[in-house]
Amino acid sequence: MVGPGTGIAPFMGFIQERGWLKEQGKEVGETVLYCGCRHKNEDYLYQEELEEAEKTGVITKLNVAFSRDQEQKVYLFY
Ligand SMILES: NC(=O)c1ccc[n+]([C@@H]2O[C@H](COP(=O)([O-])OP(=O)(O)OC[C@H]3O[C@@H](n4cnc5c(N)ncnc54)[C@H](OP(=O)(O)O)[C@@H]3O)[C@@H](O)[C@H]2O)c1
Repeated sequence: MVGPGTGIAPFMGFIQERGWLKEQGKEVGETVLYCGCRHKNEDYLYQEELEEAEKTGVITKLNVAFSRDQEQKVYLFY
Protein backbone atom coordinates (compact mmCIF):
# COMPACT_ATOMS: atom_id res chain seq x y z
CA MET A 1 0.00 0.00 0.00
CA VAL A 2 1.38 3.39 -0.97
CA GLY A 3 -0.56 6.31 0.51
CA PRO A 4 1.16 9.62 1.19
CA GLY A 5 -0.74 12.37 2.96
CA THR A 6 -4.50 11.94 2.94
CA GLY A 7 -3.91 8.95 0.64
CA ILE A 8 -3.57 6.86 3.79
CA ALA A 9 -7.34 7.01 4.39
CA PRO A 10 -8.54 3.95 2.43
CA PHE A 11 -5.67 1.85 3.69
CA MET A 12 -6.67 2.34 7.32
CA GLY A 13 -9.73 0.26 6.47
CA PHE A 14 -7.59 -2.43 4.80
CA ILE A 15 -5.37 -2.59 7.89
CA GLN A 16 -8.34 -2.76 10.29
CA GLU A 17 -9.90 -5.56 8.25
CA ARG A 18 -6.65 -7.52 8.20
CA GLY A 19 -6.35 -7.09 11.98
CA TRP A 20 -9.87 -8.44 12.37
CA LEU A 21 -9.17 -11.41 10.09
CA LYS A 22 -6.03 -12.23 12.07
CA GLU A 23 -8.06 -12.11 15.28
CA GLN A 24 -10.39 -14.73 13.76
CA GLY A 25 -7.36 -16.93 13.16
CA LYS A 26 -7.49 -16.44 9.39
CA GLU A 27 -4.29 -16.36 7.42
CA VAL A 28 -3.49 -13.01 5.77
CA GLY A 29 -0.62 -12.16 3.49
CA GLU A 30 2.05 -9.59 4.13
CA THR A 31 0.85 -6.06 4.83
CA VAL A 32 3.40 -3.48 3.77
CA LEU A 33 2.65 0.24 3.97
CA TYR A 34 4.51 3.22 2.54
CA CYS A 35 3.24 6.58 3.70
CA GLY A 36 4.54 10.02 4.52
CA CYS A 37 3.63 13.54 5.41
CA ARG A 38 5.24 16.90 5.93
CA HIS A 39 5.83 16.96 9.68
CA LYS A 40 5.76 14.04 12.10
CA ASN A 41 4.38 16.10 14.97
CA GLU A 42 1.68 17.86 12.93
CA ASP A 43 0.50 15.56 10.17
CA TYR A 44 1.18 11.96 11.25
CA LEU A 45 -2.39 11.52 12.44
CA TYR A 46 -2.46 7.71 12.55
CA GLN A 47 0.91 7.28 14.26
CA GLU A 48 -0.46 5.38 17.27
CA GLU A 49 -2.68 3.06 15.24
CA LEU A 50 0.05 2.30 12.70
CA GLU A 51 2.77 1.67 15.27
CA GLU A 52 0.43 -0.57 17.26
CA ALA A 53 -0.49 -2.48 14.09
CA GLU A 54 3.19 -3.04 13.34
CA LYS A 55 3.86 -4.12 16.93
CA THR A 56 1.08 -6.71 16.82
CA GLY A 57 2.13 -7.96 13.38
CA VAL A 58 -0.93 -6.72 11.51
CA ILE A 59 1.43 -4.52 9.49
CA THR A 60 4.45 -6.51 8.39
CA LYS A 61 6.53 -3.46 7.56
CA LEU A 62 5.74 0.20 8.16
CA ASN A 63 7.74 2.61 6.01
CA VAL A 64 7.35 6.32 6.76
CA ALA A 65 9.05 9.55 5.69
CA PHE A 66 8.56 13.11 6.91
CA SER A 67 9.45 15.41 4.08
CA ARG A 68 9.78 18.74 5.88
CA ASP A 69 11.19 17.88 9.30
CA GLN A 70 14.72 18.72 8.16
CA GLU A 71 16.40 21.27 5.94
CA GLN A 72 16.55 19.00 2.90
CA LYS A 73 13.32 17.33 1.80
CA VAL A 74 13.20 13.58 2.33
CA TYR A 75 10.97 11.02 0.60
CA LEU A 76 10.76 7.25 0.77
CA PHE A 77 11.92 6.51 -2.75
CA TYR A 78 14.28 9.37 -3.54
N1 LIG B 1 -1.90 23.93 6.11
C1 LIG B 1 -1.16 22.91 6.44
O1 LIG B 1 -0.39 22.95 7.40
C2 LIG B 1 -1.24 21.69 5.60
C3 LIG B 1 -0.55 20.56 6.02
C4 LIG B 1 -0.66 19.42 5.23
C5 LIG B 1 -1.45 19.44 4.08
N2 LIG B 1 -2.11 20.56 3.72
C6 LIG B 1 -2.94 20.60 2.51
O2 LIG B 1 -3.91 19.55 2.57
C7 LIG B 1 -4.08 18.96 1.26
C8 LIG B 1 -3.87 17.49 1.32
O3 LIG B 1 -2.61 17.21 1.89
P1 LIG B 1 -2.04 15.78 1.96
O4 LIG B 1 -1.64 15.51 3.38
O5 LIG B 1 -2.91 14.80 1.26
O6 LIG B 1 -0.77 15.90 1.04
P2 LIG B 1 0.57 16.74 1.22
O7 LIG B 1 0.80 17.20 2.62
O8 LIG B 1 0.62 17.73 0.14
O9 LIG B 1 1.64 15.59 0.88
C9 LIG B 1 1.85 14.50 1.75
C10 LIG B 1 3.27 14.04 1.65
O10 LIG B 1 3.53 13.56 0.33
C11 LIG B 1 4.62 14.28 -0.22
N3 LIG B 1 4.44 14.42 -1.66
C12 LIG B 1 3.67 15.32 -2.31
N4 LIG B 1 3.77 15.11 -3.64
C13 LIG B 1 4.60 14.06 -3.81
C14 LIG B 1 5.12 13.38 -4.96
N5 LIG B 1 4.78 13.75 -6.19
N6 LIG B 1 5.99 12.36 -4.74
C15 LIG B 1 6.34 12.00 -3.50
N7 LIG B 1 5.90 12.60 -2.39
C16 LIG B 1 5.03 13.61 -2.55
C17 LIG B 1 4.63 15.61 0.50
O11 LIG B 1 5.93 16.18 0.43
P3 LIG B 1 6.20 17.77 0.26
O12 LIG B 1 6.87 18.20 1.52
O13 LIG B 1 7.10 17.84 -0.92
O14 LIG B 1 4.88 18.45 0.04
C18 LIG B 1 4.25 15.20 1.91
O15 LIG B 1 5.36 14.70 2.63
C19 LIG B 1 -3.08 19.68 0.34
O16 LIG B 1 -3.79 20.67 -0.37
C20 LIG B 1 -2.08 20.31 1.29
O17 LIG B 1 -1.56 21.51 0.74
C21 LIG B 1 -2.01 21.68 4.48
